[in-house]
Amino acid sequence: MTQASETAQQPIDYSQHIPNNVDLANDRALQRALERWQPAFLNWWEETGPADSTRLQVYLRTAISVDRDGWANFGYVRMPEYRWGIFLTPRDEVRKINFGDHKGEPAWQDVPGEYRSTLRRIIVTQGDTEPASVEQQRFLGATCPSLYDLRNLFQVNVEEGRHLWAMVYLLHRYFGRDGREEADALLERRSGDPNKPRILTAFNEKTSHWLAFYMFTFFTDRDGKFQLCALSESGFDPLARTTRFMLTEEAHHMFVGESGVARVLQRTCEVMHEKKLTDPAQVRAQGVIDLETIQKFVNFHYSVTLDLYGADISSNAASFYTGGLKGRYEETKINDDHSLASDSYAVQEVENGRIVDKQVPALTALNARLRDDYTQEIQAGVDRWNRVPEKFGMAFRIVLPHQGFHRKIGNFAGQYVSPDGHVLPQQEWERHSAEWLPSEEDHAFVASLMHRVLDPGKFANWIAPPTRGIKNLPIDFEYVRFD
Ligand SMILES: [Fe+2]
Ligand SMILES: [Fe+2]
Repeated sequence: MTQASETAQQPIDYSQHIPNNVDLANDRALQRALERWQPAFLNWWEETGPADSTRLQVYLRTAISVDRDGWANFGYVRMPEYRWGIFLTPRDEVRKINFGDHKGEPAWQDVPGEYRSTLRRIIVTQGDTEPASVEQQRFLGATCPSLYDLRNLFQVNVEEGRHLWAMVYLLHRYFGRDGREEADALLERRSGDPNKPRILTAFNEKTSHWLAFYMFTFFTDRDGKFQLCALSESGFDPLARTTRFMLTEEAHHMFVGESGVARVLQRTCEVMHEKKLTDPAQVRAQGVIDLETIQKFVNFHYSVTLDLYGADISSNAASFYTGGLKGRYEETKINDDHSLASDSYAVQEVENGRIVDKQVPALTALNARLRDDYTQEIQAGVDRWNRVPEKFGMAFRIVLPHQGFHRKIGNFAGQYVSPDGHVLPQQEWERHSAEWLPSEEDHAFVASLMHRVLDPGKFANWIAPPTRGIKNLPIDFEYVRFD
């Protein structure tokens, strides 16, 4: 048998009630269970998804197959009719577990009993973030800076909805009754609700305006990418295959964030250059977001996203790894023994009021390592942003704050670290915090700029147009239709 036929894939079957490439039609019990969950999902979408969007026709991409060309399908869709479905990348029959104690064994096609509850918790935690972000972004459509941006928001929203489907499929298919209960609970928690909050803190924060949205999709969706990359290495093959396909969708979300912030910077720099302004108050008076405020949002979103990686030193992370459940970023490209039994890794912590490097067993530092890999990619994106002020001959540069700044989880929790990495007394830190983090007033100012722009090809004053449209369409294409 050739490699190609071993990995031959199932086409996506769109004739089914639930589009899928997992041969759902031949598993009646599962199909019925998911068909019962589907109306609950649609209710959730109606109740907490994009507000006032039911009648709109949105120029969306829908996956028609899981290979590279499967993305070719673009067209107008009314969002409640979006074909949410279950798509896994093809199975590699010879795939092995690539790390930990089970290294070299065939990848699991079913859940090993000893890891059942751990895997369920990993899947639920990932799954919970997907609907949470849709809830956080519910009201942004009312203040969209253009039709192009409105369409991108909705594309992100429908795909996060599909990522929820991806995790719910795993729960229903592999975890029996507990899995079904968890799938129901995923529709019951609500972002920011004190009585039934989403699981992770960053997913209970408000995304109250478009600057926060771009920051969120740049910083927090990229955390999603790194978590999914680590899960795509999993020895539990269905999880690996589901997350691989999710990653192809995630790339667009990060593009929306990175290009969104770049366009805000572009517009601000244009105005500063044209009017020869440097004073933030004067910049604001022109109806654009001053660079200092953009930096504060970077400080906030970066620091709360770092908390999503969990404690620097974590015995859970170690056991996920040795168990073969969650790998490192690009595990199979790393050239070592993939067991980490005797390796060490440097993490930072505060000792006697100073930040010091400390070597710890690598196995316990896997959260810190994944976060460091993330920071590297974030830094590259920030460097691309900084080409904007550079192009205008301005000295200003966006700078990532020190990893210890404004942290609630991990080695720096309870410490007061300045963005430039100095440990300060609490009072001094608090005295400066309004210079470092967006204040109520900063939020109010940004929110005051947010007005809905719906003429094709027109953009709000505070943001530059993109360099090109979606799928090479003109920028003034009617990306959302209101009839
Ligand atoms: Fe997602
Ligand atoms: Fe995403």
